[in-house]
Amino acid sequence: WPLVAPEIDAIQRLKRERNAIVLAHNYQTPEIFHGVADIVGDSLALARRATETDADVIVKAGVHFMAETAKLVNPSKTVLMPDMAAGCSLASSITAADVRLLRAAHPGVPIVTYVNTSAEVKAESDVCCTSGNAVKVVESLGVDRVIMLPDEYLARYVAGQTEVEIISWKGHCEVHERFTGDEIAAYREDNPGVYVIAHPECPPDVIAAADYTGSTAQMISKLDDANASKVLLLTECSMSDNVAVHHPELDFVRPCNLCPHMKRIDLPKIRRALESLAPEVQVEPAVAERARVAVDRMLAIR
Ligand code: 13P
Ligand code: SF4
Repeated sequence: WPLVAPEIDAIQRLKRERNAIVLAHNYQTPEIFHGVADIVGDSLALARRATETDADVIVKAGVHFMAETAKLVNPSKTVLMPDMAAGCSLASSITAADVRLLRAAHPGVPIVTYVNTSAEVKAESDVCCTSGNAVKVVESLGVDRVIMLPDEYLARYVAGQTEVEIISWKGHCEVHERFTGDEIAAYREDNPGVYVIAHPECPPDVIAAADYTGSTAQMISKLDDANASKVLLLTECSMSDNVAVHHPELDFVRPCNLCPHMKRIDLPKIRRALESLAPEVQVEPAVAERARVAVDRMLAIR
């Protein structure tokens, strides 16, 4: 903390001067998560909370698609992305042209798109979802078949939770796809009684080996009734670091995979973004108008 305290002080001062808030994803490092964030959460919470702020400036401590979502729901606000290169393997797995081809191949089948996508892809979609509401969104449509993009594993997980038939794409999260069922079996052997919580972006054999599956916010909530002294969070490394402080009673077994995109964001970049009010996220108005419909439809589903 002595090393980062001056950066944190500078960011807190700049936030007041700019009437700015920092929205941070659960995968941000502890100095961001605990030190400068005004709101922390999963993708769904961050999208919702972005609609509720009266700040003039939103700094997104997360990845590019999250900043775009914040801009879609706040077209008149300044949305800053401290590092524009913070992408996502899911977002880059599919283009708007791919979605148009899928729609043509499956006429009349609604397209449910994970928020981990570009605004252009959202604009071709009927409704968005996150890992926290995917089943609810799919079932809200009242149809017997949907296309669900682009995460193959999330789509398979949802297919196991609903009667609705799911047509999927072949995108994967480069962080969660690295976990394996064998690895989980080995951790269980070394840590008898460990409670295993997986993110739905994990492969099916990993989810099958877990005790509970949910979005990052749902994973955190589950810690309150895990009924175990040891837990294993199958997700990005910063999650355990961020939540361990609130759960001194739990021993966190910490195998984890690092997201190189999330880790592009650091305190100096957040400070520079607030000083210069750049880089600013922009979405082309015609694209934004259509993408916003898909995001708003999702947010209307409670
Ligand atoms: P959630 O926080 O919505 O579960 O998403 C996880 C993720 O991988 C975001 O990049
Ligand atoms: Fe994308 Fe996976 Fe990183 Fe999330 S953890 S930003 S899904 S690559």
